Amino acid sequence: MSEALLVKVGGSLRGAEALLDELSGYPGPLVLVHGGGPEIGALLERLGFQSRFVEGLRVTPEEQLEAVEMALYLTGKRLAEGLSRRGRKAVALSGRDALCLRGQALPGLGRVGEVVGVEAGLLLDLLAGGYTPLLAPIALDEAGPLNVNADTAAGAVAGALRWPAVFLTDVEGVLEDPQDPRTRLPRLTPEGVEALKARGVVRGGMLPKVAAALRALAAGAPWAAIAKGERGVLGRVLSGEAGTRFTPGEAPEKPA
Ligand SMILES: Nc1ncnc2c1ncn2[C@@H]1O[C@H](COP(=O)(O)OP(=O)(O)OP(=O)(O)O)[C@@H](O)[C@H]1O
Ligand SMILES: [Mg+2]
Repeated sequence: MSEALLVKVGGSLRGAEALLDELSGYPGPLVLVHGGGPEIGALLERLGFQSRFVEGLRVTPEEQLEAVEMALYLTGKRLAEGLSRRGRKAVALSGRDALCLRGQALPGLGRVGEVVGVEAGLLLDLLAGGYTPLLAPIALDEAGPLNVNADTAAGAVAGALRWPAVFLTDVEGVLEDPQDPRTRLPRLTPEGVEALKARGVVRGGMLPKVAAALRALAAGAPWAAIAKGERGVLGRVLSGEAGTRFTPGEAPEKPA
């Protein structure tokens, strides 16, 4: 059987036909986590809100959370329908369903958090029933829902499942020069990531993504990769031809 994969689908890739074909055609089990950056941004703007980002994380005041959830959930339902129509029956959920993502708020960002607990049983039951779970990155703490960066959530779910994590986005991988797709770095270790961050090469939305890849590894995922969400990408990531693959380095990793 083909390898089970946790795939994070970037909001920037929403509904792209090629990506839906690629995911629905993958022969092995998949658990999906999706983002919704562009959709969230568009809805907030229509409602007259402006977003501020801190190290790639969208600051989410309480009064914006409802709109963030609405945009994410519609994105999830569209993806679920697109995959289901292609023969891969997918179910769109969030961390509020069966309380499957437990969160902890991050200071100073409003209702933004990280994932501290994953109820993997729900995901495994759905898979056993022949359904592909698709999670929106909303987690719960005592006060209610928290907006979690989708990469952060995906890294936590991959770690809990101990499955490889593939982060599909709109760039070829981690690039030495973010403007030049030919500068893709095929492999990175935690030490390599630190060096790139120190040089300011990894910025914006790539920051939570590399942190999530490393965190998935630290939590027990066998490997993690960042790659461009296009036709044929999963096979090429598995064979090492596409994307940036993260592997554990020499020194033990500090928790993020
Ligand atoms: N060194 C780098 N290499 C590649 N991309 C980089 C780098 N530094 C910053 N980036 C930016 O990171 C972006 C990807 O993250 P972004 O958060 O925008 O998308 P996503 O995570 O796929 O979607 P979503 O946030 O909706 O889930 C790239 O489009 C690029 O502009
Ligand atoms: Mg992102």
